Amino acid sequence: MSEAKKLAAEKAIEYVEDGMIVGVGTGSTVAYFIDALAAWKDRIQGAVSSSEQSTARLKSHGIEVIDLNAAGPLSLYVDGADECDPRKHLIKGGGAALTREKIIAEASERFICIIDPSKQVDVLGKFPLPVEVIPMARSLVAREILELTGGQPVWRDGVVTDNGNVILDVHNLAITDPKAMELALNQIPGVVAVGLFARRPADVVIVGGQPPQVL
Ligand code: 5RP
Repeated sequence: MSEAKKLAAEKAIEYVEDGMIVGVGTGSTVAYFIDALAAWKDRIQGAVSSSEQSTARLKSHGIEVIDLNAAGPLSLYVDGADECDPRKHLIKGGGAALTREKIIAEASERFICIIDPSKQVDVLGKFPLPVEVIPMARSLVAREILELTGGQPVWRDGVVTDNGNVILDVHNLAITDPKAMELALNQIPGVVAVGLFARRPADVVIVGGQPPQVL
């Protein structure tokens, strides 16, 4: 699958334009995108990063990392996903960076999602849905998620997000109405962000292959 990830990432470079500040996601697919972006480092203003991991990789290539507050609205955001349905709704957060990813997606005019074919599904939910939670609310949120969805929340033990929070991965979901579930889970006190990107889905999905498919 890593070849497919690389092919998707390299196709996404076609959306980068001179002078841009590029929003950059997190994960192994995005790592290929960052490596390809290195060739553009003197042509772009820099990048807004969604994680410490991506920041380190961007900096290792000499790409300037810009704070979102200073950057303002972005024209382009490139990120991976754990699952993608035919309406370009996504599950994200396998790398625990969902909150910052969601913020950057919201700030961006165009969200290009880069995936390998294994991420394409008809119905979201086979991949456990990540939810970032304030630590003191972990048990409360788990109980409420169980009651609300019937899914089984599992604490991602040992993982602390870049924001100092914890992750609950919700198993055994079949998410037929992703927007409604995103809105409902967002209402639980203690939830910081839900790894469903339905209210703000991807605009373009690139599926890695020979040639890459642009949806
Ligand atoms: C990180 C994410 C990633 O985009 C998602 O987990 C996909 O990762 P990869 O490209 O390594 O398969 O949402 O929080």
